[in-house]
Amino acid sequence: MTKKRVLVTGGAGFLGSHLCERLLREGCDVLCLDNFFTGSKQNIVPFLDHPFFELVRHDVCVPLKVEVDEIYNLACPASPIHYQSDPVQTTKTSIHGAINMLSLAQTLNAKILQASTSEVYGDPEIHPQHEGYWGNVNPIGLRSCYDESKRCAETLFFDYRRQFGLPIKVVRIFNTYGPRMHPQDGRVVSNFIVQALRGEPITIYGDGSQTRSFCYVDDLIEGFIRLMATGPDFTGPVNLGNPVEFRIADLAHLVLKMTGSSSKLIFMPLPQDDPKQRKPDITLAKQQLDWTPKVSLEEGLGQTIHYFKKLFSQ
Ligand SMILES: NC(=O)c1ccc[n+]([C@@H]2O[C@H](COP(=O)([O-])OP(=O)(O)OC[C@H]3O[C@@H](n4cnc5c(N)ncnc54)[C@H](O)[C@@H]3O)[C@@H](O)[C@H]2O)c1
Repeated sequence: MTKKRVLVTGGAGFLGSHLCERLLREGCDVLCLDNFFTGSKQNIVPFLDHPFFELVRHDVCVPLKVEVDEIYNLACPASPIHYQSDPVQTTKTSIHGAINMLSLAQTLNAKILQASTSEVYGDPEIHPQHEGYWGNVNPIGLRSCYDESKRCAETLFFDYRRQFGLPIKVVRIFNTYGPRMHPQDGRVVSNFIVQALRGEPITIYGDGSQTRSFCYVDDLIEGFIRLMATGPDFTGPVNLGNPVEFRIADLAHLVLKMTGSSSKLIFMPLPQDDPKQRKPDITLAKQQLDWTPKVSLEEGLGQTIHYFKKLFSQ
């Protein structure tokens, strides 16, 4: 029996490394591509000896020729600190990366999945956000390099589908957390845990009343696999995320309780264009993928806290 050959771009990142792990478990032959901008070899060390895992150090902005059956395009820095540190490169990665991976998929007639984002909804005027909503995005702000290039990547995916009949899948990912997040990436869950474990003040931007929904990484990866397995008529975009909302201040208190930390809370001004509310409508994922998140926030936080404790003790 021949194994399914799967390319994961951004495979050494937080989500990519979990996806590689899951695909190896499913019996796939996995090619992980990464330029290590935000990813780390540490994330994929456990699979380096696996006979069906290969790593290629490569920038998705540069065309690539490999033989695969499926492509998951995840390469792109995801945290505001990282994507704003080199905004031009962020836009190039999203757009040139999408073009290069789409044209590879076209050559191979391979299925291709794009890791898009809830950021395409910007600061939404409707709540929760469903896939039919076109978004409210500032085209010239600090976050635009990410938001707008991800929107353009979606356009490219759908144009490749319309123009060349390519089998595409687009997933709009909402806040996801778990082990292997970058400790310095400034995303709220990892930030709070790292600050709590180090006994540093917990930084809350705004008054903490803004809400977010948090999806545990295993749930998200399950959604990726189900989406890739759908027939050619289902393209998405489909929201994947946890619809249970939490106030940021409540998340901070939960992290303090679960880590036993005595860190104090400090309040800072909200960053530019920070959305006040974000919550996925996952009706489509339920209908088309029979998918709902299963892992509770307490359970997922427990796994993530355990990961960071281990990381800091090394
Ligand atoms: N984690 C989330 O909550 C979330 C939410 C929405 C969307 N996403 C999307 O999911 C994908 C993965 O996000 P993540 O959280 O794992 O982030 P991450 O930063 O951990 O992973 C991104 C990976 O892409 C690699 N990369 C960046 N630029 C590259 C380039 N030019 N060429 C090759 N590799 C490159 C990085 O080195 C890293 O390994 C991203 O596309 C992101 O936009 C993530």
